[in-house]
Amino acid sequence: MTVYAIIGGTGLTQLEGLVIRQALTLDTPYGTPSADILRGEYGGREVLFLARHGQPHRIAPHQINYRANLWALKHAGAREIVAVNAVGGIHAAMGAGHFCVPHQLIDYTAGRAHTFFEGELDHVTHVDFSYPYDAALRERLIAALTAEGAAFSSHGVYGCTQGPRLETAAEIVRMERDGCDLVGMTAMPEAALARELALPYACLALVVNPAAGKTSGLITMDEIERVLEQGMGTIKAVLARVLSD
Ligand code: HPA
Repeated sequence: MTVYAIIGGTGLTQLEGLVIRQALTLDTPYGTPSADILRGEYGGREVLFLARHGQPHRIAPHQINYRANLWALKHAGAREIVAVNAVGGIHAAMGAGHFCVPHQLIDYTAGRAHTFFEGELDHVTHVDFSYPYDAALRERLIAALTAEGAAFSSHGVYGCTQGPRLETAAEIVRMERDGCDLVGMTAMPEAALARELALPYACLALVVNPAAGKTSGLITMDEIERVLEQGMGTIKAVLARVLSD
């Protein structure tokens, strides 16, 4: 049976309603994951939950041990991964509170440990990453968002920046020219590592602020937290639907 893993991002450090059966404290060849992996039941199904930024939220995007997280999830039995990410909106359709199931991404990060293929290897492997997100899992997210009546886009290009600072307005103009619709700090190398482990992976993104320069004001954490709180109900309902299908 497919065991889903949920990687919770900002605002989703715990999954309310998850009936926890076990907290797995795992070590990996790459170090320790962000938090214990919680094994439990959600939406009537067995699920693994991992808080990407730690529990409580304390690990900045560029300091997350993505390799340990993905390795631990795989070894805990995950067969598919749904990642939840808070993002900034670049495209005009991506206003605060809007959801998106991205179909593509561009990696602007630097210096993150981003592959399992390093050190003494028998052979070098170049995984195909043409389509970073799993098509079937994306369809399930899209169906769940539709059933929930959420405002969402079924496509979008996620540009992943290094952080932890937010972008300049000029950087966002460049990203828009590149074709990015969303900007966040946590899609990569997470998605690529999932591919290296042959784990189907898709992203449920919630726009929590207009990207830099997209409104006259500055971006505040207060605003981000308010939108996150408002969107959390839909995120939980969508996850429950995806798992119970
Ligand atoms: N930029 C980068 N990451 C983000 C943003 C943003 O505007 N909002 C939430 N995560």
